[in-house]
Amino acid sequence: MTTEKLQALLDSMTIREKVGQLVQCNAGQFIQNDMEITGPEGELLPAEDLNRVMGSVLTFEDAAQAKALQDRHLAADPKKIPLLLMLDVIHGLRTTYPIPLAMGCSFDDDLMAECADMARKESAVCGVHVTFNPMVDTARDARWGRILETSSEEPLLNSRMGAAVVRATQGEDLSRPENVACCVKHFAAYGAPEGGRDYNTVDLSERTLREAYLPAYKACLDAGARLIMPSFNALNGIPSVANRWLMNRVLREEWGFNGVVISDYNAVGELVTHGVAENLKDAVRLSMLAGCDIDMVRNAYYLYLEDLVRDGVVPEEMLDQAVLRVLKLKNELGLFENPYHGADEEAEKKLYLCPAHREIARRAAEESAVLLKNEGILPLSDRIRKAALIGPFADERHLVGFWSRPGAWKDAVTLPEGIQALLPDLELIIERGCGAEIGDTDESGIDRAVEAARSADAVILALGEPENDSGEGRSRATLTLPGPQMTLARRVLAANPNTAVILFNGRPLELTELDELAPAILEMWYPGTEAGNAAARLLFGRANPCGKLSAGLPRSVGQYPMPYNRMNTGRPKPQPDSQAFPFTSCYLDTPNLPLYSFGHGLSYTTFSYESLTLDRTVMRPEESVRVTIRVRNTGSGAGKEVVQLYLRDPVASVVRPVQQLIDYRKISLEPGEVKEVAFTVTEEQLRFWDFDCSFRSEPGTFELSTGYADHLLLTRTFVLQ
Ligand code: NOJ
Repeated sequence: MTTEKLQALLDSMTIREKVGQLVQCNAGQFIQNDMEITGPEGELLPAEDLNRVMGSVLTFEDAAQAKALQDRHLAADPKKIPLLLMLDVIHGLRTTYPIPLAMGCSFDDDLMAECADMARKESAVCGVHVTFNPMVDTARDARWGRILETSSEEPLLNSRMGAAVVRATQGEDLSRPENVACCVKHFAAYGAPEGGRDYNTVDLSERTLREAYLPAYKACLDAGARLIMPSFNALNGIPSVANRWLMNRVLREEWGFNGVVISDYNAVGELVTHGVAENLKDAVRLSMLAGCDIDMVRNAYYLYLEDLVRDGVVPEEMLDQAVLRVLKLKNELGLFENPYHGADEEAEKKLYLCPAHREIARRAAEESAVLLKNEGILPLSDRIRKAALIGPFADERHLVGFWSRPGAWKDAVTLPEGIQALLPDLELIIERGCGAEIGDTDESGIDRAVEAARSADAVILALGEPENDSGEGRSRATLTLPGPQMTLARRVLAANPNTAVILFNGRPLELTELDELAPAILEMWYPGTEAGNAAARLLFGRANPCGKLSAGLPRSVGQYPMPYNRMNTGRPKPQPDSQAFPFTSCYLDTPNLPLYSFGHGLSYTTFSYESLTLDRTVMRPEESVRVTIRVRNTGSGAGKEVVQLYLRDPVASVVRPVQQLIDYRKISLEPGEVKEVAFTVTEEQLRFWDFDCSFRSEPGTFELSTGYADHLLLTRTFVLQ
């Protein structure tokens, strides 16, 4: 449809019809109740009218349902404006790949893009027009259960992963039925709730907000994301959906975003609960004036926006602009010509869980696993005749994570299935030992598990966190392994020292005691559909671990928030980190540094960093420094290494981080092979938000290092003139 026709359509619409475009209903409400719709607080809504005018729906099941919803709406709407169908496809639709936090550990933007591309194909045939993805909330506190949904605690990694998702999902041309529009979320700083408690208030300086939190949203918008979702939380006192500074000033004016803003689930209604709106009508006024185009699910716009426009409280011009943004998106998706977009029942059958998709998911699961520790136990030898598979995750299928599609766990491969597929002759004894639920105290299975451990040549101890303990609304105040898992671990590790621990969990856990006892720990996170196959291949050396932590693991939950790119203090703790130093910034009872820092991860081979060289030591602002890092595979097997480049600005007008990742690249090396990795450092990478919140660099000396957080290597300096 041409722009003129789109404008003519808008001009022909009544206020009620315009408001409808900004209303999003839950598909389940229509389908289950056959058009009887009840609002969240029990208002009986006129379903016929809602169906006639509404602009979008979320959460539907498949292509058949997508088409039925569209048909029903189009039959009722005299203007024949197609619905936008939206769904949360976070890490795969039917073929589930690892949770985003795990994908961050791959440090592999191309692999992330491959996974997102697979999810795009499955989403498109399901009938999805918009996915509520990527989620790029920087998270520095694992008490927050939604840390699993983000790629990292690190803004650059988060930005690159998010942008890769956007490009792969949207493609070049959204009107093509195989492409899906992205909604980046949750704007802004949803990942920094006080106390790590989901939905809680966020209080941040503008500099921290701009340096640590905003870049990833911006990167996704720069990559072309068409929608953005304001977060549930209040940011510095104002809930995001009503935050004019955030949405009008930063998003629209500074960043020039002209796509669609959609509230989070009932976030407009929650303005009343937050205590910034008198009532629902007032909440509609606040969120419309702040620039929120679509009201997700609450139907608040449906109930009150028409009156507010008629009374002149919300200018009709503002309504028109919001509606035009929605219509433009529909037009860009080609929905006026093809309202089903890619929905295709036959293609669903062919694509879902097809071998090619499973292969990508398996590779992603292998590349995102992090070998935390290995004292010669892993990989396990094929010569082992009898292995004991012990622990609550020893024979578990719920390995896909909270944000996978409902029922996706049923397709996941368990650990024993993966091991037996690889080694059919290996004798496996499986003992659960105990549960992993919070508050679980039943230790009655531990004796049998210990017996099994004693009788085996090797033990695989599968521990972790139940899938429902991380995700939305799943905050924890303690981060140790839940239930009696540590009792099980102590006894099994004492019974058979040839034990490798494998972990399935959705957040960084506090592993301090386990780390002291276990000779090998492999962190798998929630690996998705191919969990068991990927784990088996890693455990038995068919795949070589190469993941690096995308968020550090704490020694103690009391260390949070614990960003690796922390600021220096006036009294930094002298190193080594093992003891307290009075009157320095330290704990009396715990070292400052994480148990495992951001960027850590071992391999079955070893790498040595031979040199870091700069092509110049003095740089003018318009120039750049070329950094070359030489890495050698010093072990006996092929492996992949993530070469990381860190910056420090030792003296500046405001305090700067002690280390900051500014680039990374993953390389493959055969045994004995040497590779040089080159990075280019420009003046832009040296900028920061200064005292007056302007983004600029300052002349002076800068340090560049490789290695990983808290373990920097080969530091070289240069001067910016
Ligand atoms: C609430 C979540 O915060 C958001 O991430 C999600 O996209 C919406 N619900 C829709 O399901």
